[in-house]
Amino acid sequence: MTEGPSLSARVVASSRAIESQQPVGMRVCSDPYARCFLRGRLYLIGEARVPEHVGVWLQRRFAPGFHDYFVARTRFIDDALTSAVGDGVTQVVILGAGYDSRAYRIPALRAIKVVEVDQPATQQDKIARVRVCIGETPHVAFVPIDFTTQSLAGALTAETYDRTARTFFLWEGVTPYIDAFAVDATLAFIRESSGSGSIAVFDYLDEEALLGRSSHRAVTAWVSRTRRTREPVRFGIDPSQIGKFVGERGLKPTAHAAAADLNERYFKPFHGHRAVTPAFAIAQVQVP
Ligand SMILES: C[S@@+](CC[C@H](N)C(=O)[O-])C[C@H]1O[C@@H](n2cnc3c(N)ncnc32)[C@H](O)[C@@H]1O
Repeated sequence: MTEGPSLSARVVASSRAIESQQPVGMRVCSDPYARCFLRGRLYLIGEARVPEHVGVWLQRRFAPGFHDYFVARTRFIDDALTSAVGDGVTQVVILGAGYDSRAYRIPALRAIKVVEVDQPATQQDKIARVRVCIGETPHVAFVPIDFTTQSLAGALTAETYDRTARTFFLWEGVTPYIDAFAVDATLAFIRESSGSGSIAVFDYLDEEALLGRSSHRAVTAWVSRTRRTREPVRFGIDPSQIGKFVGERGLKPTAHAAAADLNERYFKPFHGHRAVTPAFAIAQVQVP
């Protein structure tokens, strides 16, 4: 577990803040609250704060496709969540919530129960900023946890979480930072402790990238850089085995988006020059 609020959570919120400044119709995702969590127009590269335009340039130069991946991932999950809520999901659990603002910016979520789960330091910082920028949010329960040492079953009590409800779990940008045991324990909780037809969307690092074998130098460099930070990457999956991976954990694969799918869906129509890093992919699964 990291000490202090998660830097990776701020980095992805930076990307959402920058993307949200693009003109309507040109932006891939829109998060009006992202900037509030960052306090000012600064971009984070690791622990360094730099002016935004410099930050975007540095990121495009040294981690090409990461900014584009972060915003495409947010949009993919927004679309999946909105569709699931329209389809009758009655509870949303945001695992490793960081500065995720869906509970506040997606109107349909104001009418249903949302549980935000994250490590305590990041969550305390988030709560303080939510109070300032958004105000009271009675539809949201905040549950602190460290996935690597605590169980979701212990953390999500009957007061905050309904085990029988058809639930949408989202786990955005988290699995790379926890170990295989914690990933398995979380998927087991989703399978065993949620209503039938519940949905989970999570993204993961390609195992080849984790092992330093990506053919993309920028990906290998990013993986090495994380190992010099408080948030090293620790977990990956072979994308060709994702169906088997989730099937062995009792979940039904229902959708999958690799880099080419995200590019086709979000960038080809308007932003032919933009493309996501091939380091990650997104999986959607259902509880039978
Ligand atoms: C890259 S950030 C993603 C944040 C958020 N989901 C988003 O997309 O904006 C990674 C998140 O995982 C959380 N995290 C990492 N390790 C964790 C652990 N062991 N237990 C609980 N949360 C953890 C961090 O606190 C952080 O919020």
